[in-house]
Amino acid sequence: MTNALDHIQKMSPYALADMTAPSGIDLISLSQNESLRPPSPAVLKATTESLSNSSQYPDSDWTDLRIALSGLHNIPSDQILCGTGSLDLISCLARVFSGPERSILAPEHAYPFFKTAAQMANARFDTAPENNGSVCVDALLTAVKPDTSIVFVANPANPTGTRIPKSDLQRLRSNLRPDIILVIDEAYGEFSDPLGERCWDMLNSDNCIVLRTFSKAYSMAGFRIGWGLFPDRIAGEVRKVMNPNNVTLAAQTAALAAVRDQPYMQQTCQITTTLRDQTMRTLTEAGFDVLPSVTNFLLIQFANTAKAKAADAALRAHGIFLRRQQGAGLPYALRMTIGPEPETQTAIAHLERWMQETPK
Ligand SMILES: Cc1ncc(COP(=O)(O)O)c(C=O)c1O
Repeated sequence: MTNALDHIQKMSPYALADMTAPSGIDLISLSQNESLRPPSPAVLKATTESLSNSSQYPDSDWTDLRIALSGLHNIPSDQILCGTGSLDLISCLARVFSGPERSILAPEHAYPFFKTAAQMANARFDTAPENNGSVCVDALLTAVKPDTSIVFVANPANPTGTRIPKSDLQRLRSNLRPDIILVIDEAYGEFSDPLGERCWDMLNSDNCIVLRTFSKAYSMAGFRIGWGLFPDRIAGEVRKVMNPNNVTLAAQTAALAAVRDQPYMQQTCQITTTLRDQTMRTLTEAGFDVLPSVTNFLLIQFANTAKAKAADAALRAHGIFLRRQQGAGLPYALRMTIGPEPETQTAIAHLERWMQETPK
């Protein structure tokens, strides 16, 4: 039998959240940074209506959606590519621009899929230290190697929830070698847009990409649709490795309806950030060390790995699943998605109880 390529045999599969609840207990998942509410009613209506056309292939160029995104963000529609989630675009980029004898660089506590994408492409994965959970531009610049091909930065970052100012990203871009591609992954961008900094104009440099997704603020993780703004040169190459017809008709229809229903998405962000800030205050008052976040999740840091494991186990016993972060180099931390209010309050109550019952 033919064996898998060496680099595939050596890699571990991407670790998704473990969702096995103790038997007889209802699962409360605050582990995947999904939205706290369902997709907008307009999305559900449009998608349902589109299903009867599903005997046909979808538009392989995502035309209507690109035009709507172009209008919304004031960006050129012909530089937009859509993927089966932004994961699809991340792995396409790694395959096209990295590989053996090239490397990918990311911050120390970066979203673990960047490493998986490097491994799938058989590229080396390098990391640069962070400053207390924030991306450090100087450390990234110092960590650049002659074979660095891509730098991935999520902003806001997952799992830390922190954000660096656009001026730092601009400094990173202008001090990186021009042949290195900078990918700014804004999966949580809508939650922090009120800060008023958008990065679309960074594409003027021709070696910068901005990615977004419908999975988070638009409440559409199950549809699997993400997108990005790409310089022409890069878009042309990435298209060659993308599966044709990668985004289903239902997902394209849903995304188009979601873009047209901005008030719903904005309200989701507002409900989420209000509950996030309340949760942050309550957990901090209860004695937890929580990083300030501009996303739909919080990173809770424990004194050591054993305590993080113990808190995780105590919550899991009640069917409440947060997410351990050893994959991001944070074995002493748990990430908590801000879920629907009742589930979030239940998790807070169990965390408070764990804190009271745990010797200092
Ligand atoms: C930083 C970051 N990028 C990308 C993704 C993947 O998003 P999608 O559902 O669009 O594939 C996630 C999902 O959690 C994420 O946290």
